[in-house]
Amino acid sequence: MNQDELKERVAIEAVKYIKDGMNVGLGTGSTMYYAIRYLSERVKNGLNIKCIPTSEKTAEWARTYNIPLTNFSETHHLDVVIDGADEVGPNFHLLKGGGGALLREKIVANATDQFIVIIDESKYVNQLGKFKLPIEIVPFGYEYTIQLVEALGCKATLRQSNDAIYVTDNQNYIIDCDFGMINNPKQLNNQLISIIRVVETGLFIDMANKILVSQSSSGLVEEL
Ligand code: A5P
Repeated sequence: MNQDELKERVAIEAVKYIKDGMNVGLGTGSTMYYAIRYLSERVKNGLNIKCIPTSEKTAEWARTYNIPLTNFSETHHLDVVIDGADEVGPNFHLLKGGGGALLREKIVANATDQFIVIIDESKYVNQLGKFKLPIEIVPFGYEYTIQLVEALGCKATLRQSNDAIYVTDNQNYIIDCDFGMINNPKQLNNQLISIIRVVETGLFIDMANKILVSQSSSGLVEEL
């Protein structure tokens, strides 16, 4: 089973948690693409839901596949949020933001008691940090922000896209930070967000309620 098939399988399992009448948070990324496709089938068959997307890309996909959208003016609480991750470590701590949507992903994940993370088994790790940690920063004074973050013990790279600085949906920048293996994700997250110029980090601490993992050997989806 290739990685796309693993992503599709876990996405289908996650969408089963979505029930009629729910307000739903939709994450960002290629695994979520499969979830959106499958969810659209259920909406076509009469499922009545409203969704808040975590990125402009996800909103575009949702509109393309006729999934009804809402926003935080209409609802403050989400019954379930489904999203991918770049790494999942012990204690359900997550490393996210590879797709650049970490800020809205964190806001949306924070609006539910049922945050379901969908990954293939390659993303389940003993320790976070092989994937560079994305951090969203304000553009104002970003050169010095990079120095402040690097002083915490990493090499930070300003994310680029098509030979220009990558700009998030919130008009901010992303720095991808190599801290090596992260021994204490909670402490690192606290240190980073105490820098006033840092908007949010890709470390999602104590947020996930359920992890669904697609296993290549068995072809099954395991729930952690
Ligand atoms: C988006 O900013 C990320 O947090 C994604 O959730 C993460 O990168 C997973 O993406 P894939 O499903 O494409 O691997």
